[in-house]
Amino acid sequence: MEAFSVVGGERLSGEARVGAAKNAVLPLLAACLLMKEPVMLCGCPRLSDIADMCALLQSLGCRAQREGEDLIVDAGGACGCVMPEALSKRMRSSIFMLGPVLSRFGQAVFTYPGGCEIGLRPVDLHLSALRALGARVEEERGHILCRGTLRGGAVHLDYPSVGATENAMLAAVCARGESVICNAAREPEIADLARFLNACGGRVRGAGTGTIRIEGVARLTGRAYTPLPDRICAGTLLLAAAGSGGEIYVRDARPQDLTALLHKLREAGAEVKCGREAGVHLRLRTRPRAVRRIETAPFPGFATDLQAPMMALLTRGQGTSLIVENVFESRMSHAAELGRMGADIQVSGRAAVVRGVPRLSGARVTARDLRAGAALCIAALMAEGESLVENVALIDRGYERLEEKLAALGARIRRLPGGEG
Ligand code: UD1
Repeated sequence: MEAFSVVGGERLSGEARVGAAKNAVLPLLAACLLMKEPVMLCGCPRLSDIADMCALLQSLGCRAQREGEDLIVDAGGACGCVMPEALSKRMRSSIFMLGPVLSRFGQAVFTYPGGCEIGLRPVDLHLSALRALGARVEEERGHILCRGTLRGGAVHLDYPSVGATENAMLAAVCARGESVICNAAREPEIADLARFLNACGGRVRGAGTGTIRIEGVARLTGRAYTPLPDRICAGTLLLAAAGSGGEIYVRDARPQDLTALLHKLREAGAEVKCGREAGVHLRLRTRPRAVRRIETAPFPGFATDLQAPMMALLTRGQGTSLIVENVFESRMSHAAELGRMGADIQVSGRAAVVRGVPRLSGARVTARDLRAGAALCIAALMAEGESLVENVALIDRGYERLEEKLAALGARIRRLPGGEG
């Protein structure tokens, strides 16, 4: 099991880039299945979740390979509609394949997906969306069987689930007739998926708002596309710099995707300057101020994926902060690990009361989920002495060589091979 060794106390300083967002690339990869010509996704990070999604595509008869920074997917020869169990279980995003596989082959056989241990994460909203578009769905002994010819329909989501919105879009884009998705998620990755589908010949309007209208088209045509930059990686780097008492410019961060975080960073005392389209500069020289209350919510609310990294920053806040996790029911595993470093955090259900302490001290800690892992790295950079952050494989799911990005900013962090910790 690989680990990061981190010696805290260095002020981060410099410029960073984040590259394409994992959460944008994953649904785009699933969308490739709707096309018979090759698609080139430019500037994709090397992440295990993305590699797993490519392996899923390959298992369905597609060619999916990396050429430098780009991914080339050719689904012309796709022939399978049964998702291999092991790969599906390894990652939650395998569920994105359901809509496209069904759209292309008229049937799909799935295993319930896996993913991070942050809550129950059922797939009922995905399935009810597909039912609304004409699919017959049967669930039996851990498998999902979907059949039928998709047609336009009215999808009402009880909750604006990101994945269910994307699945419904992927199912509707080539279905006969018009579809409307109500109470759709408004995350930037949804608008990015629509931009890609439209660039390939789709007719999707309203993505980024609560109502998405889709006019089904007979076919989509593959092309080259550059997915949007990763707002969660950008946010993580901003928080790391803030925690270290440093300064950073994230060149490709899009301020409009980060408004809730930037607002809270300012409340914590950071100076933040934004470019019009891209570029965020942050400086925080002193200990952060406490932030009265942060509640995670669907976009444009505070992103649940930045809750753990934000908590890491607030462990050294001057005063008491309250963090409420509204999106996932058990996404506080990092609190206990931060406690090992001397943080004073009391968790009760979905709420955490963080009493800022003057200093953290290095400790041996374990990442329990992807973003919790990033939070532990931030805390380790803030702590006195050396920390060992274990279970780096989880961090690699969503951050490409995080240690190299941080080291380039002046952090003392290195990857230890499995067994050395
Ligand atoms: C996506 C992101 C993830 C982020 C999350 C919330 C990707 C690949 N992942 O995950 O990083 O943390 O959005 O911003 O884009 N739910 C149901 N039934 C369903 C689907 C979801 O009850 O059928 C619940 C979930 O359990 C969760 C909430 O809805 O409590 C939000 O989940 P959702 O928005 O679907 O997140 P994901 O698409 O899984």
